[in-house]
Amino acid sequence: MVKRVDKVYNTVVKLTKTNEIGVSALEIAKELGLERSTTSRYLNELYRESKIEKVGGRPVLFKAKIPNKDNGVGTFTKKMNSLDKMIGAKESLNLPMEKAKAAIIYPPRGLHTLLLGETGVGKSLFAEQMYEYAKEVNIIRGDAPFIRFNCADYVNNPNLLTAQLFGVKKGTFTGADSDREGLLKRAHNGILFLDEIHRLPPEGQEILFLYMDKGYFSPLGETGKTVHVNVRIIAATTENPESFLLQTFFRRIPMVISLPSLKERTLKERYKLIETFIK
Ligand SMILES: Nc1ncnc2c1ncn2[C@@H]1O[C@H](COP(=O)(O)OP(=O)(O)OP(=O)(O)O)[C@@H](O)[C@H]1O
Ligand SMILES: [Mg+2]
Repeated sequence: MVKRVDKVYNTVVKLTKTNEIGVSALEIAKELGLERSTTSRYLNELYRESKIEKVGGRPVLFKAKIPNKDNGVGTFTKKMNSLDKMIGAKESLNLPMEKAKAAIIYPPRGLHTLLLGETGVGKSLFAEQMYEYAKEVNIIRGDAPFIRFNCADYVNNPNLLTAQLFGVKKGTFTGADSDREGLLKRAHNGILFLDEIHRLPPEGQEILFLYMDKGYFSPLGETGKTVHVNVRIIAATTENPESFLLQTFFRRIPMVISLPSLKERTLKERYKLIETFIK
């Protein structure tokens, strides 16, 4: 009969095959139908015997040490994922790509990200691929929400814009005729993509930045009530990085990724891009 500790080890190996980042004690416990505390004990035993690695953060994650045929240091050969499939992933988009992956996996909850770039450079696609990537590496669940919102859509109604994002208590302003739940809450455990972020009015910015710092926010007109969510924000803008409108965003959003203009791409990339546009 296979010993329990070996079952735990085999499960770590199995789960790390599809999840390069690592797996939590709870996930392993669920897989085996064991108590979490029992599982943790075996995991620590395996860790002491140097059979598995610990990845810091909360929750602590574990991954198997699998000897690599080439160098024996226990890293996995990287498999292709969504981000790598974008045109220019290994060329012009290499740095943006690496930064995006780092932003997604950064423990414990990732880094909120601002995407810069002229219109048509692929910001929206990039944001979607970051979401796909986050699912592929099991940072978020397969059914996690991806919610997009264009801040330019409500530009002449800042109250409504802010209410859409953060929710509102009935009667807070003319037109707020019912309690409404905001998109930030609906994106819980997933990603909220905010396009044309430079159009977000100051009061909306304040709530957003507070959420980024603290992990909670108050809907409009609900000063006493706080809503705690776990949402990764990806913001995008076509605004010139020199613009004063962006300066606050630069200071408050921890990861800024610039996508190069189409002129800056290699000839091969431009050719492939044209090909996909035609298709
Ligand atoms: N690197 C890429 N690989 C494959 N397709 C791409 C790439 N970059 C852009 N595209 C395609 O080009 C088109 C424009 O991209 P996208 O809409 O993401 O640009 P954008 O920066 O969001 O533009 P806008 O500022 O106008 O919203 C899309 O059809 C997208 O799929
Ligand atoms: Mg776009």
